[in-house]
Amino acid sequence: MHEGVIILVTDRPDRSADLAAALRQVGTCEVVGTDERWTAIGAPLGIVSDLTLTRPEAVQCLKALEARYRGQPLPVIGLLRRATPDALRHAKSLGATVCLPAYVPPQSVAAALANQIEHTCPLSERLVVHGVARAGEALTGLLAEARAGSPIRMEAVEAGLDPILTAVQEGGLARWLDTVWTHDDATYQHCLLVAGLAAQFSLHLGFRQADRHRFVRAALVHDVGKARIPLPILNKPGRLDPDETAVMRTHAALGYDILKAGGECDELTLDAVRHHHEMLDGSGYPDGLSGAAVSDTVRLLTICDIYAALTERRPYKAPMPAAEAMGVLQGMHGKLEARLVETFGKAVA
Ligand SMILES: [Fe+2]
Ligand SMILES: [Fe+2]
Repeated sequence: MHEGVIILVTDRPDRSADLAAALRQVGTCEVVGTDERWTAIGAPLGIVSDLTLTRPEAVQCLKALEARYRGQPLPVIGLLRRATPDALRHAKSLGATVCLPAYVPPQSVAAALANQIEHTCPLSERLVVHGVARAGEALTGLLAEARAGSPIRMEAVEAGLDPILTAVQEGGLARWLDTVWTHDDATYQHCLLVAGLAAQFSLHLGFRQADRHRFVRAALVHDVGKARIPLPILNKPGRLDPDETAVMRTHAALGYDILKAGGECDELTLDAVRHHHEMLDGSGYPDGLSGAAVSDTVRLLTICDIYAALTERRPYKAPMPAAEAMGVLQGMHGKLEARLVETFGKAVA
């Protein structure tokens, strides 16, 4: 069985139980109707469409599906109620990658889908898609709780950590970054980039598993305070003015307060959240720490954080190439630990 979700979209849910049961041998199966618009569904492993394609709502549903996942390798099995050449062409034009007659036994449909998943999407890629989806869920929940002022649940964050580490280890950092860069929300994209870079850095440094886990945990939640920054400032394209910068800078201490209020007691995480904008020369914020007062965790995290910010993908600007971003980090003499910057460069190369 695969890690991930299979969607069965059907206009006859009363008759889909056997098919759903067979698909559950391949992955977690969700059954949806033709009113599904796909916007709330992350990255499924595959789709099975059991629809009457002569109905406009079925066509509209599959067009929305095609638009949502355009450019991504997504297996779509189209079950044809009438297996004619015209119906086949129609289904293919609506995004079906394989078509089968609707009377084919459910086990055969499941086997065809499993085969398509293997064929279109290798395991390493699926691990990354799965890792981004799980980490994204954890982060989205955390930010929503922090924004609403409700108690944060770090248990939900824990569930996203192993998928990140596995994805980066098995799927590679480049694939992780490529996947995360496609996400539009700036804070969401940034936190997942920093988490992936932290996973890669800790793997490269040979951290023990428990330490990798702890470091990635801190990285994933490091900007939780941004949930309390007004959106016009948080998502402003281009430079912030001095007043806006002052507001933005409150996010580090705000994040610390949010975690404290939520009962967080891991000192490493609290330190990382409060101090990830501190610089070795004392020029950072919020506490103006310098030298030995800046912990090892913060020294590692600031490098990941700045590199992620420099290489982020935003609609209004061209991305900075990796080599140029490394040049910026190397130019931050006295602020970052040069030896760690050099090691980071090797870790992400
Ligand atoms: Fe930050
Ligand atoms: Fe950050």
